[in-house]
Amino acid sequence: MKVLLIGYGSMGKEIEKILISRGHSLAGFVDPVAPGGHKEVTLGLLDKADVVIDFSSPAAVESNCNVYVQGKTPVVMGTTGWEQIRNKIEKQVTDAGIGFIWGSNFSIGAHLFFILAEKAALLINSLPEYDILLHEYHHKRKKDSPSGTALTAASKIIAGLDRKDTILTETLDRQIKENELHVTSTRCGEIPGTHTVMLDSAADTVEITHRARNRNGFALGAVMAAEWVRDKKGFFPVELFIKEILG
Ligand SMILES: NC(=O)c1ccc[n+]([C@@H]2O[C@H](COP(=O)([O-])OP(=O)(O)OC[C@H]3O[C@@H](n4cnc5c(N)ncnc54)[C@H](O)[C@@H]3O)[C@@H](O)[C@H]2O)c1
Repeated sequence: MKVLLIGYGSMGKEIEKILISRGHSLAGFVDPVAPGGHKEVTLGLLDKADVVIDFSSPAAVESNCNVYVQGKTPVVMGTTGWEQIRNKIEKQVTDAGIGFIWGSNFSIGAHLFFILAEKAALLINSLPEYDILLHEYHHKRKKDSPSGTALTAASKIIAGLDRKDTILTETLDRQIKENELHVTSTRCGEIPGTHTVMLDSAADTVEITHRARNRNGFALGAVMAAEWVRDKKGFFPVELFIKEILG
C-alpha cells in the first residue's frame, strides 16, 4: 500500500515508522513547514497514493478534503477539531463514493479500555455494593483536563450504569451524590496518559487501567485503519472499524 501522509509532525513521523514496519511505502508527505515535504496536496500527488493518512491541523481539513474527494482517494482522518463541518464532509465523501474513516482516538488499546469500562458499568448495575470512579494521569504540559479519553470513558460508564447520570470533574468540598461519577485528573512529569476505572466495595477493589507508553498505539491504529478502508466506500467512525476487528 502506498500512503500519502498529510502532516509530518509527531504523529506523521510515528505513522511513517509503522508503515515501513508493516511493509507499506510512502507516496510522499505534505507539510507546509517540515523540510523535504510538499507544501500542499495536489491531484498529482494523490495519483501516486492508494490511501491518504491525515494527522495535520483542523484549519486544513476542509480544503484538503476537497482535493481528496476530487482525487477519489480513500482517507484516514486522524486530525481532530473539525466537528462543525462533519456533515458537509460526509456528503462530499458519499457523493464521491470513497472510503473515509475518522475519529479522535485511533488507539486500539484505548478502545479496548472504553469497551471494558462500559462492560464494568453494566456488570455492577445489579450490584449496588460496588461504586465506580475514573482517574487519569498525564504529563505536566497537557493543557486540558480531564482528557478527551477520560470523558469518552466516563460517557460509556454513564451509559452503562443506571444509578449514575452526571459526570463531576471538579474537586469536591461536599459529599458526592449517588448519581454522580467522579472523574479526576493529575498532572505530573512525562506520563503519556494513564486512565483507571476503579470499582470499589466494602470487600475489595477492582481496577481497569489503560497505560499508554507513547504515540505508537495511535499510529498503529491509523495504519490498520488505512489497510481496512482502502477497499471500502462510506463515511466510517473509527468505532465501526474497531468493532469489526474485535469481531
Ligand atoms: N485521532 C487520533 O488518534 C489522534 C492522536 C494524536 C493526535 N491527533 C490529532 O492529529 C493532529 C496532529 O497531531 P500531532 O501531534 O502530529 O501534531 P503536530 O503539531 O506535531 O503535527 C502537525 C503537523 O501538521 C502540519 N500541518 C499544518 N497545516 C497543514 C496542512 N495544511 N497540510 C499538511 N500539514 C499541515 C504542521 O506543520 C505539523 O507539522 C492533531 O489534530 C491532533 O489532535 C489525533
